[in-house]
Amino acid sequence: MIILGVESSCDETGLALYDTERGLRSHALHSQVAMHEEYGGVVPELASRDHVRRALPLLAQVMKDSGLPLSAIDAIAYTQGPGLAGALLVGASVANGLALALGKPVLGVHHLEGHLLSPLLSARPPAFPFVALLVSGGHTQLMRVDGVGRYAMLGETLDDAAGEAFDKSAKLLGLGYPGGPAISRLAEFGDPGAHTLPRPMLHSKNLDFSFSGLKTAVLTLVKKHDSNLCEQQKANIARAFVDAIVEVLVTKCMAALKETGMRRLVIAGGVGANVQLRAALDAAAARRRFEVFYPELALCTDNGAMIAFAGALRLQQHPDAARCDYGFNVRPRWPLDEIG
Ligand code: KG4
Ligand code: ZN
Repeated sequence: MIILGVESSCDETGLALYDTERGLRSHALHSQVAMHEEYGGVVPELASRDHVRRALPLLAQVMKDSGLPLSAIDAIAYTQGPGLAGALLVGASVANGLALALGKPVLGVHHLEGHLLSPLLSARPPAFPFVALLVSGGHTQLMRVDGVGRYAMLGETLDDAAGEAFDKSAKLLGLGYPGGPAISRLAEFGDPGAHTLPRPMLHSKNLDFSFSGLKTAVLTLVKKHDSNLCEQQKANIARAFVDAIVEVLVTKCMAALKETGMRRLVIAGGVGANVQLRAALDAAAARRRFEVFYPELALCTDNGAMIAFAGALRLQQHPDAARCDYGFNVRPRWPLDEIG
């Protein structure tokens, strides 16, 4: 079975072809980062318009790269939510229009399910069950994953998401958008002893997170220097920020493994690309004898491959999940534990 995946929930247009026999056949991505950079964040209307411009050329590219004709597509999976409503509508329209033209079934996929299952696309895929840490620009959740579609929430952020904390703190330090990779790079040059930032909810007796205080602590440090920071001072603050957020994320993952009695941890979402987080998790895994799994670096942030793959797994489990009535809606807010 060949599944076309279409992702357009935020600022990346991603298309991909997943073959249930042969794996990922092709994938193509256009990132709008450069377009949104001058505004310091994603402008929803610009995002939607750019998805309109990019979707069909990317479709042509994935078909060409795979060497397959359009008629080889058996079903089309698109991101139905959560995300920006206008951006989601573009992917949903493209997917449904194409499916109608080809007479093929179509199904809506949950964006976070795509992230969650993306490590299964790697060369060393985890077996079920596992604990998953989903850390993206919009979400921070610890889930218990017993199989495809069997997700139970263990804990989540009460305010900012981890990626949002990275982006907002980076902005306070005058770094570009998205701030995660920039603050991570800068932190490498920081002095670890220069500042200590709070570890929010580190010892709360649950698996929830809170990151908005961390951003406020960064703001306080920036203000202390009258917003006039040299590169080394910025690096020191970046280092303190990264150390704090990584310690909270790693500690909560350990607590989730302990609570569930599991020994497999899966990291997914954009912040899963973070080198300091990966190093700390790898060290903890070696020390505590558990296994940790990541998606391929290119599949950490938003992409079409994870949507095609999640669609394929869903269809293998529920062949009637794909429909041919081509009436569609999008779900900008859609809790992951509500999917069946
Ligand atoms: O999963 P994703 O591409 O989009 C959402 O579904 O939100 O995640 C984007 C987020 C952004 O906040 C970005 O700053 C963060 O992931 N991110 C990183 C890194 N790469 C991306 N954060 C820290 N370190 C990175 N290397
Ligand atoms: Zn995402």
